[in-house]
Amino acid sequence: MSILTIAIAKGRLQDGAFELFRRAGVVVPEAAASSRRLMIEDESRRYSFILVKPGDVPVYVEYGVADAGVCGRDVLIESAADVHEPLDLGFGRCTLVVAGKAGSAERGYNPLATARVATKYPRATADYFQRRGVPVELIELSGSVELAPALGLSEHIVDLVETGRTLRENGLVVLDTIAESTARLIVNRASYHLKRAAVAGLVDALKEAVFNQPQMNTDKH
Ligand code: PRP
Repeated sequence: MSILTIAIAKGRLQDGAFELFRRAGVVVPEAAASSRRLMIEDESRRYSFILVKPGDVPVYVEYGVADAGVCGRDVLIESAADVHEPLDLGFGRCTLVVAGKAGSAERGYNPLATARVATKYPRATADYFQRRGVPVELIELSGSVELAPALGLSEHIVDLVETGRTLRENGLVVLDTIAESTARLIVNRASYHLKRAAVAGLVDALKEAVFNQPQMNTDKH
């Protein structure tokens, strides 16, 4: 049985995560990482990786089903999970923003009207508008959020921007930045103590891999 189970966010962070683990000396067979298998082991059998939806990574780690995980800071902000976050992994750089239609967007919020905002990030969005005293109606979507203003579903959106291409091609502009995000290593609180040596070994190896490869920061996530 593996010493540590590590949850990896499927999708844009997956390749960067396995690449970083490889550089940290954890050999994950290339074929396994690119297969459809949702649980894979490294060659030493010290680590089991489970591939899960990004938003589920903090859940698996908080409940201890996984000892550690890799997900974006955006996901952590939204989940508010009670986990250790010992390391910024430096890749998967993107920004959580408020955006709206070019032209109408610059008018700002009408303090007397409720802002309709479509998003995959309801908690972060509610917090943002609450802090500004702007009443908000949240429209929760699970993807293609940039369609909402064009179809009149909402005036604004809160979503991730990486290259800015999706916003641009859908006639939207950034109105404000809520948070910068990169991939993070998170660790279950009990595992942090009960598997101290294994966790410390993993954190140190990843830290070295992160600091020896500064150009990782510009990788697409
Ligand atoms: C993310 C995000 C934006 C897009 C931003 O969506 O929600 O839609 O990427 O990337 P860009 O700035 O490089 O264009 P994702 O690809 O995860 O798909 P989704 O819309 O289904 O969530």
